[in-house]
Amino acid sequence: MEFIGHILIFPFPIQGHVNSMLKLAHLFDLSNFHVTFSVPSNIHARLLAHTDVNSGRFSPRFRLQSFPAGIYEGAIDSKEGFMELCDSLNRIAKPFLRECIAQKRNFSLPFTAFISDFQLSIALDVVGEECFNLPVYYFRTISACGFWAYFSLPDLFEAGELPIKENGIDSSPITKIKGMEDFLRVRDLPPFCRDEDLAVLFYTETRLAVHARGLILNTFEDLEGPILSQIRTKCPKVYTLGPLHAHLKATLASKSTHSNSLRQEDETCMAWLDSQEPKSVIYVSFGSISVITRQQLMELWYGLVNSGKKFLWVMRSDLVAGKDEETPIPLELEEGTKANGYIVGWAPQEAVLDHPAVGGFLTHSGWNSTLESIAAGVPMICWPFFADQQMNSRFVGEVWKLGLDMKDVCDRSSVEKLIRELMEKRKGEFLERAENMGKLAKQAISEGGSSYCNFDCLIQDIIKVNEDMRKPLKNVLAS
Ligand code: UDX
Repeated sequence: MEFIGHILIFPFPIQGHVNSMLKLAHLFDLSNFHVTFSVPSNIHARLLAHTDVNSGRFSPRFRLQSFPAGIYEGAIDSKEGFMELCDSLNRIAKPFLRECIAQKRNFSLPFTAFISDFQLSIALDVVGEECFNLPVYYFRTISACGFWAYFSLPDLFEAGELPIKENGIDSSPITKIKGMEDFLRVRDLPPFCRDEDLAVLFYTETRLAVHARGLILNTFEDLEGPILSQIRTKCPKVYTLGPLHAHLKATLASKSTHSNSLRQEDETCMAWLDSQEPKSVIYVSFGSISVITRQQLMELWYGLVNSGKKFLWVMRSDLVAGKDEETPIPLELEEGTKANGYIVGWAPQEAVLDHPAVGGFLTHSGWNSTLESIAAGVPMICWPFFADQQMNSRFVGEVWKLGLDMKDVCDRSSVEKLIRELMEKRKGEFLERAENMGKLAKQAISEGGSSYCNFDCLIQDIIKVNEDMRKPLKNVLAS
């Protein structure tokens, strides 16, 4: 088969990012590209342990590659942990990627494109310092609204709308993010806006997008069109390819999904769902990183049980902080859960959301979770924690009207009230809107749809830029 290109993919090494970048890698593999997917050794080991990544899913053109030891593996729900991870990627991944591109790492085929995640500075430095002839594409795995907010942060500082003053729940308007003037409030901004170091790190990396060959986003035009138009004033080449999980599923033309989980999925919940009434279950999950307090756990739990609705809850082993202070679970919660609930440590989430019994999703509004819910036509209750999640939940509640934004509150009566509203009082209204948006998502990834066509354009761009780069050399050789 003719060689059409070899793509180096460098995800930020956490579940949500690895998940969507691996889906993109799979799409490239199915389009006959060679792909090298570079991750730290702990992610490498977990992918091998919990997925079929190295057993038949990909063609032999795909290669999962591990960085040398030393990448930070601890929790990143604190500033220190997050900074430590970024620093270690700079120290270890950067020189390693440089060696790979320079062909010092035993690759039979040269790289023809570099797709980088969050830390674009690493990719641009590596390519720029060595004058490698390699186009760099920026794939941000967050929402377009999150990306645009990060990009606009310097304008907010300039206008005095940042830094955020510490005064509890702040509903004052944010006016300096173009396209969001009418509905964005201080409390919808990413919490890192309260910390200037983090805000600077995030907007600096984001603004480097203008130096990339193209910007890839896991979203679709019908969902985020107005914000994408704003982004295109700064980055003209934006490739929206999402929802990527559905895009890949449609390309594979199979009903089954390939899991990219870094944890063992508990499939038993599927049989439990099979025994439930259609649209009767609220699925509860807060993604892979978020941590809650013992008090929040109790309030949520009471809210769920008191709502009287059926619930499937992902209670990760590391979900609750301060395990030492553990007190026994009150009897009424145990009994309420036995009657109406099912708890797992990690679920096959895509399949869960696609199950006919699921009628709502109490989510942390991580971008993958939000898109998976949208594609499945499932309305949401949003309880965001960090990064783009506050923005996503505002869009779900206020712009797309696909659910309710619970943001900043977590007491048992609010939880109960919102669940009843989503699953009972306004059920029909939310389901109708969610199902309509789900249809638009499916159109986007079907033949002729925007995400389907944009993937084609991206492929053509990767092929063309390499032909153009090699032309001068061919001309010299020919003369
Ligand atoms: C976070 C941010 O929330 C997200 O917006 C950002 O882009 C990446 O970092 P995370 O907390 O992991 O990611 O949330 P999310 O983006 O929703 O990704 C979680 C993934 O894990 C989803 O694809 C979900 O399907 C999967 N998952 C979650 C499971 O497979 N099983 C579970 O039980 C829970």
